[in-house]
Amino acid sequence: MKTTQPPAVGGQETTKPVPQQKPTTDPTVKGTGKAAKPASAQPVETVSQDQTVENRLKTRRRFVWTSIVGFLTINFLMFLRFFFPRTLFEPSTVFRIGTPSDFPLGVDERFKQSHRIWVVRELDKLFVIFAKCTHLGCTPNWIAPENKFKCPCHGSGYTMEGINFEGPAPRPMDRAHLERDVEGQVVVDTSRLYTCPPGEDCHFEDPNSYLVV
Ligand code: FES
Repeated sequence: MKTTQPPAVGGQETTKPVPQQKPTTDPTVKGTGKAAKPASAQPVETVSQDQTVENRLKTRRRFVWTSIVGFLTINFLMFLRFFFPRTLFEPSTVFRIGTPSDFPLGVDERFKQSHRIWVVRELDKLFVIFAKCTHLGCTPNWIAPENKFKCPCHGSGYTMEGINFEGPAPRPMDRAHLERDVEGQVVVDTSRLYTCPPGEDCHFEDPNSYLVV
């Protein structure tokens, strides 16, 4: 914009440019020097940050409490475990097996699994063999077609009477103590065994090492 100045001496007219006011594009407010910001932006951002911090604290608190509860629970279970010791429940060593007439001639395996014995019935007597190999203690098998006991560990063989005849077994298998109760039932006691080591006293003819039938 130009303004017309009064004519100068000499009749000539001069034109002097007037500084134009620029549109204000600077975000600062004149006179304060502070940035002009929307009035509502700052509180929203602060609230959002507060919520994030609060959420983090909650997560952390939950993790700590979960760890504490888990630790205490495990300790409590370990404490309870002391009231249930690892015990091995073995069958009684004294038990009834029935009357002699319940057993046919030969080897009866009915009590092998439950009490580790074989009942052997002969024409005039009955005895009980403790099913433990005298070599290293394995449980032999009764091989009916071959009429013998055979140990699966190192091959010891025993006759139907439990007498060793092959393999490394050093002596016959032991026999269990027998009695009859008042009802005529045979009572076996595997805690009392009769042995027959070679070169020593044989106890297979001792009273109660067999029953006359
Ligand atoms: S344990 Fe039976 S032969 Fe060795």
